[in-house]
Amino acid sequence: MSFTITVEPSGRSFETEPGERILQAGIRQGIGLPYSCQDGTCGSCKVRKLSGTVVHGPHQQKALSDAEEAEGYILTCCGVAQSDVVIESRQVTHAGAFPVRKMPARVALLEPLAADVMRLQLQLPANNDLQYHAGQYLEFVLRDGSRRSYSMASAPHRLMESGAPMLDLHLRHMPGGKFTDHVFGAMKEKEILRIEGPYGSFYLQAEAPNPIILLASGTGFAPIKAMLEHMQFMGITRETVFYWGARRPHDLYMDAWVRGKLAQMPHLSYVPVISDALPEDQWQGRSGLVHRAVLQDFPDLSAHQVYACGTPAMVDAARRDFVQQAGLPDYEFFADAFTSEADKVAG
Ligand code: FES
Repeated sequence: MSFTITVEPSGRSFETEPGERILQAGIRQGIGLPYSCQDGTCGSCKVRKLSGTVVHGPHQQKALSDAEEAEGYILTCCGVAQSDVVIESRQVTHAGAFPVRKMPARVALLEPLAADVMRLQLQLPANNDLQYHAGQYLEFVLRDGSRRSYSMASAPHRLMESGAPMLDLHLRHMPGGKFTDHVFGAMKEKEILRIEGPYGSFYLQAEAPNPIILLASGTGFAPIKAMLEHMQFMGITRETVFYWGARRPHDLYMDAWVRGKLAQMPHLSYVPVISDALPEDQWQGRSGLVHRAVLQDFPDLSAHQVYACGTPAMVDAARRDFVQQAGLPDYEFFADAFTSEADKVAG
């Protein structure tokens, strides 16, 4: 039996087929609910259920605890409706979210950005009609059918910058992972890969007026870079502070690029935060956990909007502490827990 899912406060609705997960049904019908891992691990798709009955497939307690479920929260990525359901999500995207496309992509450039970070530039087919928001990601579909997700590191307006359709990704090497071992080993320019996208609900809510905190760890910088390019291109001048966390200074692999943007974007400031500097690094800047640096500078986040991308541990801690300790409204926290770890796990 099909059921109707209604999303408040927008009032948008869609139908689920028998046994279909709520998130999948939403994506299929162009309703962009928030999500990231799609397998019950990250908690990005957690929303409050206002009415109706939902049963969950397997998921981790850290994504949705029994207590949260008892309070009426659900994970849309592994929840199946048993009746008409009303949920609350302020992050639902507008009608006409960009359609998901599949296409071949040619490796145009492999450029090391650090010892363990590669810029992979992909050339898309000339007749492609890929559209995406800065901050979204694509998936590589590997020969065995497994997938790897990477955020676009270049803003959409740059797609045709060089005359041919190109986009950039930043890949971190996960030793033992079959995909990134290949990227850092035998991959050659002109190799053809299969991609699918865009995916994800992690992108700038352009109509909001709030000041912005951008927060990244490691290659979580990639979608943040695309967002900064997009903000500059669109003339968005909301006060923005970018915190980039890394273990050691050389892990801030495009530090000079960010500093270059500061001169061009007067509303932007930048706080690099290092967690494990060695004496030879002679690090003079901020130290510790990157999300703690945000809290030191902004003990009150009640009027901010936060965009966080990085390791699941960083994103989880930031969401919890910003909401509980600094009064950030839960719906103003936008996150993408990037999935390069998946290569190691599945490799
Ligand atoms: Fe649902 Fe990650 S737990 S998207």
